[in-house]
Amino acid sequence: MGENSGWFENTVFYEIYVPSFCDGNGDGIGDLPGVTSKMNYLKELGVGAIWLTPFYPSPLVDNGYDVSDYFAVHEKYGTEADFDRLLEAAHDAGIRVIADMVLNHTSTSHAWFLKSRENQEKYRDYYIWREKIPNNWESFFDGGAWEYDEIRRMYYYHAFSREQACLNWSNPAILEECKEILRFWLDKGVDGFRLDVINFLKTDKAAFAKDNPCDDGIQKHIYDKNQKGVREAVAGLSAFVHTYPDAFLLGEIGDDDLQTIQSYTGKGLLDAAFNFNLGSMEKWDEAYLAEQVTAMEAAGINPTLFFSSHDMRRHFSRLCSENVEAAKLLALFLLTAKGIPFLYQGEEMPLADVRIESSQDLQDAQGRYAYEKMLLLGKTEEEAFGYARERTRDYARGLIDWDLQREGGLQELYQSLLTLRREHEALRTGKYGKIAMNGQLFYFERIGRREKIAVTIDFSLTGMISAGYGGNPVLLEIKGGNGCMGLVEKLV
Ligand code: NOJ
Repeated sequence: MGENSGWFENTVFYEIYVPSFCDGNGDGIGDLPGVTSKMNYLKELGVGAIWLTPFYPSPLVDNGYDVSDYFAVHEKYGTEADFDRLLEAAHDAGIRVIADMVLNHTSTSHAWFLKSRENQEKYRDYYIWREKIPNNWESFFDGGAWEYDEIRRMYYYHAFSREQACLNWSNPAILEECKEILRFWLDKGVDGFRLDVINFLKTDKAAFAKDNPCDDGIQKHIYDKNQKGVREAVAGLSAFVHTYPDAFLLGEIGDDDLQTIQSYTGKGLLDAAFNFNLGSMEKWDEAYLAEQVTAMEAAGINPTLFFSSHDMRRHFSRLCSENVEAAKLLALFLLTAKGIPFLYQGEEMPLADVRIESSQDLQDAQGRYAYEKMLLLGKTEEEAFGYARERTRDYARGLIDWDLQREGGLQELYQSLLTLRREHEALRTGKYGKIAMNGQLFYFERIGRREKIAVTIDFSLTGMISAGYGGNPVLLEIKGGNGCMGLVEKLV
């Protein structure tokens, strides 16, 4: 088995949502040549790795998270040769590349599904088929999770849209098929994968006998995730991926429970979990931040650190009320706290949410499903839009306009913070020393092998930190309010 040097713990990742990062051919959507054209930008920013969201052939019902062919590139995003060029350019720039891999479900246009619905022997059990709907499970995109198929005359299970049929991981053939997919991209030279909703794999037939509980009409997803057998499936993927020296396996874990998150990581499992303990914050709450930092530390998790992704509103709008000073402090936290930072494209600009003004603006499957559901329930167009607007994930998915001159950009600050993190081992992998929240003043220490660094952040934005007060060398200072709002000091 290949050794993993743990490079990912020393790396800052940058998520690239391929359809909206950079349009290389002027057709209005992002593509792989567009990403390649920004490699210098990413290098100058100082990120060590990029995560590419799905770029495979797909009907794009869920913007590529509905894959119809795992061994090719969607023609809208380019060609396989474009992918090879991107990889080469990234590696030349010293940037690693991880690919999003959707192994929980496929598009219903995938050849496996087409053969499975025809009941072809080899593919009969590739998906989850039932004569009758066995439980009350709802899809994560609103509505029932079982869809009747006229051809097979049975119901199939889908945790997301009805065009995303869930694979049956209790069938050992699935792991073998998935290894071939992973092999294809690893042989090309990718440095690892981000496994989509990996704790949602359906591995346990018995679990389907149980209804999910409901609270105030809202279903709690209990039996349709973290099933018995998911860890074994992850272990199978991990054993294979780690036969490639230094390959990194990140898994998206849709769960806030720290023990659950931790149970998927470690030797023989995931190298890290993409966990939402910070990302799921709806509105700014520094006490919650401090609480989570302490709790994650106590649980022994090396968390991923992010406030934004393609699945949520941008934190510049959601948490900072579009105040650049606040965004600076969040950047300071993200790049000095303990964990693996995942920046989301454009947060360094900083980009705000796309405005969603009418139902015409609803592009995302989750938003569209919500809208349709409400109309079917007899709600007015206004009510349906109001409901869907809360659920849609279009806010962070607008195509970046690279020609726009933006004022007050945070690129320089991100660059300085990334440089600081690269230069100081204590900030990358050091343990926490003291962690304290005093009013709105957050203080933490990072202790490395040879140095100790203290970070102080004044979330009140009044600038009440006395920089240089203790006589320690100041590594970075963010001025604002009446003085200093953010401070990184070298204690030892
Ligand atoms: C998580 C992805 O991040 C999200 O965008 C997608 O809709 C679901 N998984 C389903 O694949």
